[in-house]
Amino acid sequence: MPIVSEERVVTLREGNTPLYEMPRTAAALGLNWLLAKHQGMNPTGSFKDTGMTAALSVAVASGFEWVACASTGNTSAAMAAYAARAGVRSLVLIPEGKIAWGKLSQAMDYGSTTLQLRTDFDGCVRVLSEVVQRAPVYLLNSVNPYRLEGQKTPAFEILEQCDWQPPHHVIVPGGNLANCSALGKGFAEMMHLGLIHRAPKISVIQAEGANPLYRSLQSNGGVSLEPVVAKTRASAIQIGSPASWKKAVRTLAWTGGWCEQVSEREIALAKAEIGAEGIGCEPASAVTLAGLKKLVANGRVGKEETAVLLLTGHTLKDSEYTIKYHLGELLSDAEMEGASAAELAENARLRRAPVVLDADVDAVLRAIDSQASGSGRA
Ligand code: F0G
Repeated sequence: MPIVSEERVVTLREGNTPLYEMPRTAAALGLNWLLAKHQGMNPTGSFKDTGMTAALSVAVASGFEWVACASTGNTSAAMAAYAARAGVRSLVLIPEGKIAWGKLSQAMDYGSTTLQLRTDFDGCVRVLSEVVQRAPVYLLNSVNPYRLEGQKTPAFEILEQCDWQPPHHVIVPGGNLANCSALGKGFAEMMHLGLIHRAPKISVIQAEGANPLYRSLQSNGGVSLEPVVAKTRASAIQIGSPASWKKAVRTLAWTGGWCEQVSEREIALAKAEIGAEGIGCEPASAVTLAGLKKLVANGRVGKEETAVLLLTGHTLKDSEYTIKYHLGELLSDAEMEGASAAELAENARLRRAPVVLDADVDAVLRAIDSQASGSGRA
């Protein structure tokens, strides 16, 4: 997929991420198998890297000295790293207090000019869209077409890793709604080349508090979209006015996928389950499993079918969320109130609060015993 000549490619050796089996989660869902494509295993810890290698290469080849993005964290981390590799300056606009520390630290580490604006992600996008008109700055938000050319490549990798047998379903988180269509483009191109004869159904999952696409599809079949004031702990997808919603509607339509919304409780439980598989991901990625549970419950994903969860970000990007969950400090009483008996049991099974002990061998042995008998769980 040549965009610029080989020697001008800005790369951190992204891509070729693992496709993991999730046997315990599959069994719990009554599925024969379940797979997770972990895009969080890319160099800066998210799926944004495959897009940034393409877009930064074009920015540099076009002679730009500055690149910029508005971000909920991951785009900024990726852009900052690739800009640093290329030796160009980068400007990051992020909503103050609304992104995970791990992501903020990356932009700083890679030497970006980081501006925390007193607004939300949608406000940052608005400001940046004017800035790029008034200064010679290359815009690297996901409206940039070259980013999508890079972000389609996990579709190729999934097919290669599945021996060119397309899975029945690919489940992706929905924020600004570019990634679902990028993957759709990847699968469409493979069909066009005759390498596969059908595409997976691509389903998009949103957090209940940041669900403009879900609402649009429910209320008017995706004809128009009303922005919402977004609020979810899955900060990466806390987006109320998604730029690429029309592309998302088209992708769902042509692949035959669905859009689901999931609660904060469902996200937290799903994240802990993915962690317990020894895989782990950030909260925004865990919506995929929470959504899959709904798709299985309403009969849209069948026992014999293969589903691939697209895990978009690394678990270490938001360790504060994970620690709070395991300490029992994440979800409010009100959020736990509606939990089913199965969810409560799942929560009790998954939570592992750290225990503080004296440096005493017997105390440590007692802790092992109590964990083995199940009584030591938080
Ligand atoms: N998952 C993660 C971890 C993300 O960082 C994002 C988006 C998404 C899912 C949603 O993807 O926007 O294509 O629907 N993060 C952007 C950012 C907005 O600034 O890092 P989408």
